[in-house]
Amino acid sequence: MIATNREELKRVEDKIKGRLYWFEETDSTNKQALERENVPDRSVFIAKKQNAGRGRLGRSWVSEDGGIYMTIYIMPKTKAQDISAITLVAGAALSEAIENSKIKWPNDIILNDKKVSGILVQSKISNSGEMAVAVGMGINVNTEAFPRELSDKATSIYKESGKKIKRAELIESVCDKFFKAYDSFERKGFSELSESYKKRSATIGKEILIIKDGESKRATALDITERGELKVRYGDKEEILNSGEVSVRGIMGYV
Ligand code: BTN
Repeated sequence: MIATNREELKRVEDKIKGRLYWFEETDSTNKQALERENVPDRSVFIAKKQNAGRGRLGRSWVSEDGGIYMTIYIMPKTKAQDISAITLVAGAALSEAIENSKIKWPNDIILNDKKVSGILVQSKISNSGEMAVAVGMGINVNTEAFPRELSDKATSIYKESGKKIKRAELIESVCDKFFKAYDSFERKGFSELSESYKKRSATIGKEILIIKDGESKRATALDITERGELKVRYGDKEEILNSGEVSVRGIMGYV
């Protein structure tokens, strides 16, 4: 069965330490996670459809039935300035869960050079004064076609593999991989995850455009540091970039 319903998510519910919130349709699972009070740590919000899905950089995220729209709600011990690394933790986990995928730094998941999944991390200070983080993930799973303006940049697992897959199984795998990576991050920071992240990087070695404060510069992506930053070279100068400060584009196409 392709459809995802509440019943199929029972295995996910049994595994997670927090609560499972499931919606036939909602505005945005990130918004739901951040606006609700008293959400237990390690809860997961899942919607079959979103009518106001949010993307990075103020963009919207097309969220018709067929994809996975989920938010993992966590209350990390990590310092606020290290929160941006959580997007890389989620990227590493998603890429592991989506067969043959790679990561365009910091956290777009790509299949055959097109984006199959995106991550939006948002945070707030909860009532109890602790930091709460919503790790939103959108995955194009069984989508058959995209609007024309997206079709040269976006793809779905179905479009690339010809196979329709069970969303509940992929959700379970994403949760397993995310919580494993997150536990390691909470203990040791990004360093232990950086090798597996780097193996999946589609950015290292590429000529890229760095967009910062409205200006773009051409550079070569050299490496990902143990803190998840991108090391680049412009001419004879090297620089370390943090994912919160810049946006990166490929020179040839999307990656
Ligand atoms: C991106 O622009 O690449 C990030 C897209 C993130 C989309 C997901 S879908 C589930 C969660 N809820 C939202 O409103 N956005 C994220």
